[in-house]
Amino acid sequence: MVDVKIVEVGPRDGLQNISQLVPTGTKVELIKRLSRTGLSKIEATSFVSPKWIPQLADGDMVLKAIQSLIASPQNNIGYPVLVPNVKGLEKAVQNGAREVAVFVSATESFSQKNINCSVAVSLVRVRLVTERARALGIKVRGYVSCIFEDPYEGLTDPEQVVTTTQTLLDAGCYEVSLGDTLGAGTPTDVGRLFTHLLRTVPASSIAAHFHDTYGQAIANVMKAYALGIRTFDSSVAGLGGCPFAKGAKGNLATEDLVYTLEKSGVSTGVDLDELVKIGTWISQELGIPNGSRAGSAIASK
Ligand code: HMG
Ligand code: MG
Repeated sequence: MVDVKIVEVGPRDGLQNISQLVPTGTKVELIKRLSRTGLSKIEATSFVSPKWIPQLADGDMVLKAIQSLIASPQNNIGYPVLVPNVKGLEKAVQNGAREVAVFVSATESFSQKNINCSVAVSLVRVRLVTERARALGIKVRGYVSCIFEDPYEGLTDPEQVVTTTQTLLDAGCYEVSLGDTLGAGTPTDVGRLFTHLLRTVPASSIAAHFHDTYGQAIANVMKAYALGIRTFDSSVAGLGGCPFAKGAKGNLATEDLVYTLEKSGVSTGVDLDELVKIGTWISQELGIPNGSRAGSAIASK
């Protein structure tokens, strides 16, 4: 048993925002390498419209290439894939997915820009996807985006975060990941929002998904941890962002997350040295600077 579960989102959240086209083989190699680090969840890709996210248009090939990992009884890693609608669910299942992640925004403007519909319509879609998925024995994780701020309309009403989170849980999501899509929130914001939410929602069904635009992500994790949250999303080498949230940087780097937690006596089950090697390798493959401070420091020792 580990103290904290890490959901590695680099292959999806990370690679969806890379300007160059990443070869399918590199994506597959990334997932295979990450699968040897002790991580228990790796979000592998998404099945969204290829017109909206061309970077992940090869989701079917990625899933097929890791089928032996997904199906192996010896491998206890879950490989969720992001789906926006029933079409995405069907494609995911056809290609061997056993877990999906659905996503809604707490705010109207981001919902329109990201998935071309209102929050209310997105919640109806999510209920449909969840119902069908669960009937097929597929696990469903949920995301709520823009928990603090929306790139187009400013500060988020915390009640909208509570309502959308509760709706996803009622629909059958086993966990809802709260996304600071812009990476704008501070530990004070985390304290306020999470304390409010945890009055009605158990901490065990909540994960935190912090982007690191303003350098607040690791401090936000520690605040959320102090409030009882035990699942965190992060991305190797800090890859990531969202094409519909201009300026939003990568996710919190998994290396930084593991470094801070393990140094604080909180076990993650993840081999930091192996992770650092992967962060160095993928940054070189993509020709971008390594977004992990801990990863860069350890690699240059
Ligand atoms: P739309 O244009 O309104 O949809 O897009 P539509 O139903 O009218 O379909 C348009 C075309 O897309 C049709 O094809 C459909 O068949 C196709 P055409 O007839 O034009 O050839 N289509 C699909 N193709 C493949 N897979 C599908 C699919 N659905 C429709 N699943 C839609 C609506 C939701 C599809 C679109 O807006 C979309 O795909 N959006 C996804 C955007 C996205 O992936 N954003 C990034 C992920 S969210 C995020 O990063 C935040 C998160 O990390 C948490 C956080 O940080 O806060 C999760
Ligand atoms: Mg994200």
